[in-house]
Amino acid sequence: MVVPESKDKLFHPPDDLQRDAHVPDFNSYLEIYRKSLEDPEAFWKEVADEFYWKKPATGPMLQYNFDITKGNIYIKCMEGAKTNMCYNVLDRHVKDRNLGEKVAFHWEGNSPEHHLTITYQQLLSRVCRCANVLKKMGVKKGDRVSIYLPMIPELIYTMLACARIGAVHSIVFAGFSSESLCERIMDAQSSVLVTADGVYRGEKLINLKQISDDALEKCGEKAPCSVTKCLVVNHHAVRTKGGTSCNKLQTPWDMKRDMWWDEAMADSPEECEPEWLDAEDPLFILYTSGSTGKPKGVLHTTAGYLLYTSLTFKYVFDHHHDDVYWCTADVGWITGHSYITYGPLANGATSVLFEGVPVYPHIGRFWEIIEKYRVTKFYTAPTAIRMLMKYGQEPLQKFDLSTLRILGTVGEPINPEAWQWYHEVVGQGRCPVVDTFWQTETGGHVLTPLPAATPLKPGSATFPFFGVEPTILNEHGEELEGEAEGYLVFRRPWPGIMRTVYKSQERFESTYFRKFPGFYVTGDGCRRDKDGYYWITGRIDDMLNVSGHLMSTAEVEAALAQHPAVSEAAVVSRPHKVKGECLHCFVTLKDTKEFNQKLVEELKKQVRDRIGPIATPDFIQNAPALPKTRSGKIMRRVLRQIARNETDLGDLSTLADPKVVEVLFSQRSEAA
Ligand code: WT7
Repeated sequence: MVVPESKDKLFHPPDDLQRDAHVPDFNSYLEIYRKSLEDPEAFWKEVADEFYWKKPATGPMLQYNFDITKGNIYIKCMEGAKTNMCYNVLDRHVKDRNLGEKVAFHWEGNSPEHHLTITYQQLLSRVCRCANVLKKMGVKKGDRVSIYLPMIPELIYTMLACARIGAVHSIVFAGFSSESLCERIMDAQSSVLVTADGVYRGEKLINLKQISDDALEKCGEKAPCSVTKCLVVNHHAVRTKGGTSCNKLQTPWDMKRDMWWDEAMADSPEECEPEWLDAEDPLFILYTSGSTGKPKGVLHTTAGYLLYTSLTFKYVFDHHHDDVYWCTADVGWITGHSYITYGPLANGATSVLFEGVPVYPHIGRFWEIIEKYRVTKFYTAPTAIRMLMKYGQEPLQKFDLSTLRILGTVGEPINPEAWQWYHEVVGQGRCPVVDTFWQTETGGHVLTPLPAATPLKPGSATFPFFGVEPTILNEHGEELEGEAEGYLVFRRPWPGIMRTVYKSQERFESTYFRKFPGFYVTGDGCRRDKDGYYWITGRIDDMLNVSGHLMSTAEVEAALAQHPAVSEAAVVSRPHKVKGECLHCFVTLKDTKEFNQKLVEELKKQVRDRIGPIATPDFIQNAPALPKTRSGKIMRRVLRQIARNETDLGDLSTLADPKVVEVLFSQRSEAA
């Protein structure tokens, strides 16, 4: 890698950032990277030394089998060690580092009138109280707790309370529908659900308790529902714009099962001895879309996830004690798990926790918050950048953004215009943009620049993080050297990689390890340029990335097919200016049914109700028939080209009936 001599335009790290950075130049990066691969044992041992271990490890830092032809896939980190995640991210700071008075979170509500400051000491005592409440509800080590909460402090309290008592949290993004929530509760067999009465997102009021009740009712349809207790945060009632006088919300209640948060917490003790867990005990399950349509419960464990989220946070955002860091993601996604909760707290950082949306009550809300809290490190998604770009520079000029030092993006490839705008307008040309590539499965960043070390190329996630060894394979599983494009895979694990799919080791192995034995397969395409930079080209499986949210074509198709008028559906992606990709759905109706606007609205609602608003289709097209091969397989490539209006269709000889394509093309403009 002779990066500084590249012919491409490079954006070099600013000198003042390099002066006191953890990794101050590219050679230091290369040197540390080399060590991390040559001697992973020593490298990770040094990282582990920062943390508290009730008992030291007896096994190596990493132990694994990545080759399915040699037996089951496994990854273990620090076998024999005993620790507790919550102790490491809270007690350690309060007791050993004297950081009790330091702000852990500036919570900013949906309405600017609502905000709270939470110190490490306060966080610790509230987490302990919540842990005691959960215990009282019967939650024990290893039990699953489903959490369906908006971006409020109680979400953080609950997840850390679970970690403290060794319960496994399963957070479900509060924008998901009751069916999605039900599916995830059933798979995890959670005994407790933690939710809230309601929440405003912008001007929209959402009745979370009603959705939760609907979910629990659905769970109980076939067998008794696993959830026996439901803890309900009085959020809308006390902390949103209507206050207690706001009676727009009916909160359904089951006296035997439901309990208000405030009442439960009121007399709950502030002390709770952490449960000392094995290094490989599960920390959480987080569901991600799978290409079969059924979500996969990605399982992360304790020690490795702690080491990895902590280290990536420290280096990728070049964390310093006086930083104010803000990640705009929702804790319901992995970005929030790793880079709102665990990574920042493991470093004793001060973060902003934001409940609202970027454009409420005005289009400058993000910039206002940056000014208000004097944010130094800002992490958001390309889709948010593209949306805010539409309003031009004016909304930003009203606010002081001069505290910003580093900008980050995550979720999907960032297009050059959005990168440029982020760098020039938001960062005022002064802040490196760290484009972090990773996945729910990887636990933390795997390809990423380091802000004071890596010369940037807009749109490239640049180079691997420490301990990560990427490579690119062709169709036949052959490794490609130098400039190349193909499947992005990893040759060995790092501590934060997922351990299994919850209750389905078989699905874990077949999804990630069967296609190319010896490698973890990301499902993303990737190009390596002549300077060794990695460029993610997008998914190469049946997955779609809408506004940075992955979903599978199969799950949207299944939702459409549930409508009584639909006989068959096929879903493909097409480019969208703000969302990156959006959904174009082809539906074949049952014989007697008519395609009209009313049906289109019904179908959109069907998908929204089944999955959630993020999956609402942009286009629905009538398809008298779908293009299929002679063996009956839908040719998605052809549908994708129709959706994108690409007329050069290439070889159609494998189609059973090529005329189908003409019909679909001619009716394309009628898609609604
Ligand atoms: C997929 C993972 C990781 C947190 C958010 C999404 C895409 C993610 C980037 C990036 C290009 C990216 C990939 C990946 N992706 N970050 N910086 N550049 N693509 O987590 O829902 O598990 O989705 O998001 O396609 O596989 P996720």
